[in-house]
Amino acid sequence: MTPRQPIGVFDSGVGGLSVLREIRRELPHEDLLYVADSAHAPYGEKSPAAIEARAILITELLLARGAKAIVVACNTATGVAARVLRSRYQVPVIAMEPAVKPALACTRSGVVGVLATRRTLAGRSFAELVARVGQGARIIPQACPGLVERIEAGDLDGPETRALLSSYIEPLLLRGADTLVLGCTHYPHLAPQIRELAGPCVQVLDSGLAVARQVRRRLAELQLLAPPPRAGVEQAWTSGQPEHLRAVMARLWGGDLDPRPLTRPTESAGWSVAGSSLALQGV
Ligand code: DGL
Repeated sequence: MTPRQPIGVFDSGVGGLSVLREIRRELPHEDLLYVADSAHAPYGEKSPAAIEARAILITELLLARGAKAIVVACNTATGVAARVLRSRYQVPVIAMEPAVKPALACTRSGVVGVLATRRTLAGRSFAELVARVGQGARIIPQACPGLVERIEAGDLDGPETRALLSSYIEPLLLRGADTLVLGCTHYPHLAPQIRELAGPCVQVLDSGLAVARQVRRRLAELQLLAPPPRAGVEQAWTSGQPEHLRAVMARLWGGDLDPRPLTRPTESAGWSVAGSSLALQGV
């Protein structure tokens, strides 16, 4: 393993770009590979076995492309597959944890709302997190079906997205929540709309920056940080329709992240561009 190798990052779609952004800020010299598994989004409504299979497949593709570390930029995949990935692969696997602990340090009302996918909130990792840090507070889980689809469609502030958001957030506010945890990496893309709905007295927290700092720490421990002065570059792949994703990514990231079709690696050159799409393999 060498410091010049890239970091591999994946999510079910464009959600992980909220984490990629923090990694880019924190680690400007690193090359970053990003996989948006858009053909299989939303993970939050899939079975654990299906999510685990996707996480393994994508990790192997990122490793075939030379990744020195894997970032699971998805809370849902973290809950289901982070343990498996860590036991199968030797590279560091850095994963998400909803920002419940920082939320407990912020709350004055003692009521914290956690917005996440159904799968995340039903999982063992979330139950363990609440049991570990949640003493003395009311932690109210709120599943948000439909939101990931709106974000994947590039609809950040249309009436449908706003109606969904208020149906999820208003009940939390009515129950006294003064702190909202965004426990899905898609939701930070809606942070301005969430702040506007919740009002100035409510804190809105996510874990992107904490994860980026954790990536830095792990790479530093292993002496794998890319050296200055060269600026890192980003490359992206998707199992969905690149032409559709291009527009959404341009909005969420900027025009310079042009997704290519996700394909099987060739023996000599990492990922083939002309190979068959993994989305069609039924994995
Ligand atoms: N962005 C993901 C998460 O953090 C996945 C959402 C989904 O695909 O349902 O949970």
